Formats: sequence, structure tokens, C-alpha cells
Amino acid sequence: MATAIARGLIANGTDPSVITMVDPNLDQRTLLQDTLGVTVSEDAASACKEASTILLAVKPQVVEAVAEQIKLAGDLSDKLLISIAAGITLEALEHLFGAIAIARAMPNTPALLGLGATGLFVNAYTTTAQQAEAEGFIEAFGICVTVEREELLDAVTAVSGSGPAFYFLMIEEMIKAGIKLGLSPNDVRNLTLQTALGAATMAAQGDVEPDELRQRVTSPNGTTHAAITAMQENGYGEIIEKAMIACRDRAIQLGKV
Ligand SMILES: NC(=O)c1ccc[n+]([C@@H]2O[C@H](COP(=O)([O-])OP(=O)(O)OC[C@H]3O[C@@H](n4cnc5c(N)ncnc54)[C@H](OP(=O)(O)O)[C@@H]3O)[C@@H](O)[C@H]2O)c1
Repeated sequence: MATAIARGLIANGTDPSVITMVDPNLDQRTLLQDTLGVTVSEDAASACKEASTILLAVKPQVVEAVAEQIKLAGDLSDKLLISIAAGITLEALEHLFGAIAIARAMPNTPALLGLGATGLFVNAYTTTAQQAEAEGFIEAFGICVTVEREELLDAVTAVSGSGPAFYFLMIEEMIKAGIKLGLSPNDVRNLTLQTALGAATMAAQGDVEPDELRQRVTSPNGTTHAAITAMQENGYGEIIEKAMIACRDRAIQLGKV
């Protein structure tokens, strides 16, 4: 995720040399330096001492250890910390870092292409200017939706954080079914992917709602109508809702361990 975010920032005009990426692995640091032109370091404390914005992009289970390293930088009170660690609450982050400006973000992997969808919530120590800075940072790799309550980040996880996988599953299942209907794997793959891209692009234009777009291609008793009826009779809507509730509940559970 950190690499995706750095790529987005650079593509959006940030000078790579002002970004310092900290990674314990030498091969990874060399790769980041060579491919992105960023400054690299193995020392989180010295990198964070120099930085005005710190992005915490490690697995939740190493957040505590990394916080100990970052705190060796000394006074963090004028810094903005942006955490993307899933499930780590602002309360837990404030416990680790103290009363500083912290923004919690839930991004997703299309950030790699500058097409990320990220939910954001900031703590009470964050100024309006720092919130705008966090939003601008996130908008370098996609859209930013600032939510009204921290717990809504768990709903964001169910919509966009994990959402790309729901679409990948739909694509996988359409490819499998298309092959069963006699198409070659290559043909069905090309047709499915272009259809997903076309449908998402039409829906993203936003001037016509998705249900209206669907109805426009669903003539009574036609082919699409047969498909949609089969989906609805088999509980398509309920499956999506149950999946998203399970996702939200797992996010809540992970935040408690
Ligand atoms: N992937 C997603 O779709 C997604 C979506 C939303 C949020 N998130 C959150 O984003 C965070 C990062 O996820 P990810 O998938 O990018 O994980 P990742 O691929 O494991 O990246 C974490 C990076 O942190 C490095 N690291 C480990 N210990 C470190 C330390 N002490 N100091 C500095 N760097 C250290 C790791 O290096 P090594 O590989 O050498 O250990 C690795 O390069 C997670 O908290 C996850 O919950 C991910």
C-alpha cells in the first residue's frame, strides 16, 4: 500500500526526493530507490524527525513495535500521522503516539493505479489545515471520503476496502460460467473484463443511477431480464448484504484484538 501511495503522490507532482520510505529490508529499499527515486532509510526515527507528515503503512501486528521506533524521533506534536493500519483505532494510536494529530484512513488496492477509494476520519487534535492536508495526500491516489464517526471506517472496509475482491469474484465466476457456455477462456476473459470496465465507467459518469442503467438494458422478458430474475430468485441482494455485514463485523473484531 505504501508503494501504491508513493506512486500516486509522485504521479500527482510530488518530488520523489522529498518522500522518505522506511523499510527494514535492504532489497526492498534498493528497489524503492531505483524504481521510484524516493529517499530510503532503515531508521524510522531519523526519517520521522525530518518529516511533517508520517504515513504508518505497516501490518496491524507490527504497529506497536514501529511506534516505539518512531517515538525515538522525540517531539511529534507538530506532525500529522496518517495511519492505514486496518482496525487500529484512534484511541490505540493516541495511546501509542500521544495527543498529536492523527488521521485514520482505509484505502484500497486500486490506489496502485491512482483509482483508490479511501475513507478518512481524523482525531480531535487535528486542525482544519491538517485535515485538508490529509485529504489532499489521499486524493493523490484516488478519492477521499471523510466520514462523520470513526466506527463508519468499518463500513468503509465493507464497501471499498475489501470491495475490489467482490468485483474480482464476480469476474472469476462470469469467466467460469462463460467457459461452461462454450466460449474459449481467452475470449470469455476479454469479454468479461471489457464489460466490467464499460459498466463501471458508465456508472461512474454519475448522471444516471445504476438501477436506471440496469433497467435500460433489461427489456421485459428479454435475455437480461432472464438473468436478473435468476439472480434475484437466488438471493443476490441478500448475498451481497450478508457478505458486507460479515466484512464489517470482522473489521470490528480485528480492531478489538
Ligand atoms: N492491502 C490492502 O488492500 C489494504 C487496504 C486497506 C488497508 N491496508 C492496511 O495497510 C497496511 C499495510 O498493508 P500492506 O498490504 O501494504 O502490507 P505489506 O505489504 O506487508 O507492507 C508493509 C510494509 O511494511 C514493512 N515493515 C515491516 N516492519 C517494518 C518496520 N519495523 N519499519 C518499517 N517498515 C516495516 C514491510 O517490510 P517487510 O515486507 O520487509 O516486512 C512491508 O514492506 C496494513 O495495516 C493493512 O491493514 C491494506
